[in-house]
Amino acid sequence: MNPQLILIGAPGSGKGTQAKNLIDNMGYKHVSTGDLLRSEIAKESELGLKVKSILADGNLVDNDTVLELLNANCELDGFSYIFDGYPRNLEQAEALDSHVLKGANSIAVYFDIDLEILIERIVNRRTAPKSGEIYNLVTRPPKVEGKCDVSGEDLVHRKDDNEDTVRNRMNIFKDNVDPVLAYYESLGRLKRVDAKASAPEVYELIEKIIDIK
Ligand code: AP5
Ligand code: MG
Repeated sequence: MNPQLILIGAPGSGKGTQAKNLIDNMGYKHVSTGDLLRSEIAKESELGLKVKSILADGNLVDNDTVLELLNANCELDGFSYIFDGYPRNLEQAEALDSHVLKGANSIAVYFDIDLEILIERIVNRRTAPKSGEIYNLVTRPPKVEGKCDVSGEDLVHRKDDNEDTVRNRMNIFKDNVDPVLAYYESLGRLKRVDAKASAPEVYELIEKIIDIK
């Protein structure tokens, strides 16, 4: 069984792109706290209404709420998961170990990249919520403008993908990431990948990390 995989990286560093590839090619299950929160917002559930403006501003949802959502949406029993966008701070990293992983074999992969180049990636991102495909108007444009190649659905420009919100998301990331990396490093569970490489190259790096384990 493949190790549980924890993807840590700045907004736009490629977590979702690699998660999609790993699901398609290696049978991983995916849990993205960002996707789960956006789906609650789309449903206009009580939780969705509570977090809508937090996501729109690029701030973090409180730890208890996100842990509850995560727990309700992953059942490790016999499956290998990708944790995409969780944890984002030390408390979440500790909670993931004690409440979800509970000693399961896991690796944290850090998407190492200079934050400045990410703004352009993010403002050019378009996503297909149903198929999960992630496009980029510059590096991975859809064949037909505004439509998903796989499902034909309309592509979405995320509300938090404007420059102001992205800068706030980046600052929050910078303020929180070091203790998370130090935590996994101290436990010997941290691997780093060069996330400025092309998406297929990053995929190969992750594949090697999984194979070694
Ligand atoms: P979330 O949805 O997780 O957003 P994020 O962490 O900001 O990350 P992104 O999804 O923006 O980037 P990504 O790394 O997935 O990049 P992608 O592969 O799409 O969270 C959103 C919000 O939810 C948060 O701000 C917060 O409010 C809340 N939230 C979520 N989790 C939470 C938690 N744990 N606690 C509290 N609050 C939480 O790629 C980006 C673009 O680059 C795409 O266009 C893609 O095509 C392109 N690209 C990807 N890889 C490459 C490459 N190698 N080369 C060139 N282009 C590439
Ligand atoms: Mg993502």
